[in-house]
Amino acid sequence: MAKRAGRVFTCSACDAQSPRWLGRCPECGGWNTFVEGEPEKPARSGERAPVAPGAGVLRMKDVDAADAPRLLTGLSDVDRVLGGGLVPGSVVLLGGEPGIGKSTLLLQVAARLAGGGAGEVLYVSAEESARQVRLRADRLDAVVDGLHLLAETSVDRVLEAAASRPWAALVVDSIQTVSSPDLPSTPGSVSQVRDAAARLSVFAKTGGTPVVLVGHVTKDGTLAGPKTLEHLVDAVLSFEGERFQAHRVLRALKNRFGPVHELGVFEMTGTGLMEVTNPSALYLGGRTGGRPGSAILAAVEGTRPLLLEVQALTVPVKYGTPRRTAIGFDGTRLALLLAVLERHGGLPMSGHDVFLNIAGGAESEEPAADLAVLAAVAGSARETALPKGAVAFGEVGLLGEVRAVTDATLRLKEAVSLGFTEAYLPAGNAAEAAAFPDLGVTPVASVEELLVRTAVRPAGAGRRP
Ligand code: TYD
Ligand code: MG
Repeated sequence: MAKRAGRVFTCSACDAQSPRWLGRCPECGGWNTFVEGEPEKPARSGERAPVAPGAGVLRMKDVDAADAPRLLTGLSDVDRVLGGGLVPGSVVLLGGEPGIGKSTLLLQVAARLAGGGAGEVLYVSAEESARQVRLRADRLDAVVDGLHLLAETSVDRVLEAAASRPWAALVVDSIQTVSSPDLPSTPGSVSQVRDAAARLSVFAKTGGTPVVLVGHVTKDGTLAGPKTLEHLVDAVLSFEGERFQAHRVLRALKNRFGPVHELGVFEMTGTGLMEVTNPSALYLGGRTGGRPGSAILAAVEGTRPLLLEVQALTVPVKYGTPRRTAIGFDGTRLALLLAVLERHGGLPMSGHDVFLNIAGGAESEEPAADLAVLAAVAGSARETALPKGAVAFGEVGLLGEVRAVTDATLRLKEAVSLGFTEAYLPAGNAAEAAAFPDLGVTPVASVEELLVRTAVRPAGAGRRP
């Protein structure tokens, strides 16, 4: 951005500049992020040695593309989410809310790496004392020979220790609490975080040591610190948990070396995080599906796939007008879907109260929920059900047609990785389902077809757990 001589204001989140102070950054949308002055330049790469012009330019075919072997962490869910283990020289950011278990997970990973013969691992704690970490390590059975600990907040000293021997991996817990006294800003500030991450990233790239950073997450679920932090690292993993109480889900939000949307499921126990080998059992434990009035919705929240249980209850009206109550779902949309069900499905609900609930306090606002909502309502009214282990998604139009939705692959992938075996989806999304050969796919073109498909199914009516 062109700037006039004189004052300049810089967004502390994305470095956008403006000659005036702005309440909201036009580039990144951050509020109150503008501060007066040029962005702080870390400028610690030192004096650059003179290089010949054009040095470093290679022909594409001459670039060495041999993959360096990945480092397996020993926790197969972590390896899978990483796309097959840690890539040498890569920087991984693990984000999550406080108390979710980031330190626990990384201490376990560090101990597995060190104990598994990968080499010596350095775990830097900038939040807890060495004694605290040792106490946790005792619980986790993570006191292994090759695991070293440094309780330190100065990024300079962290880098000194990192350079002191050939570590197999370096863990820094957390990137918000390490800082450099050379910079005027306070620890945790945007420029401190950016500086520390940049220097740790240079360390990873030059020496080939993989670096794992812990990153805090703000209340609205985004990683605290500058946006550039996410661009600086090779992979961003997110550790989440509110949905399954003791259960934690690890997923990749960004991965330069592998697919995103892989899922790792863990259970927090008294002795650390245990991998859940059969997440479907966990998920279906409380919410079985396959019951009249229930349908498992393969939803997407933002970019995040999520399986939710839609529950419906229909009872004959006692007096007056029928009631429609929706919790976690738009009431107007429910009324609309009931009208479609009557007109195009031939299932009048006008003599029934209809209650709809998305279990677990969840909400769904996307049109893709329609098919699961109708399956649940029709299921309750007719005592039929989608088969056990089936998910449903699809938008329903006013003409009774079932319309294709976005992110079908994402939904199906989540369903498969959580152990679901069948999917009811819009006929328009059937092509995407072909990529999942183990999944029983029922394409549905209309509400009428949904009702026919679920009525004739012997696995439906009367099957109770
Ligand atoms: P922690 O790893 O400190 O979370 P974070 O680093 O993300 O802030 O985990 C904190 C929680 O985990 C805390 O509430 C206690 C619980 N916990 C267990 O249940 N079992 C254990 O073995 C450990 C080490 C922690
Ligand atoms: Mg921690």
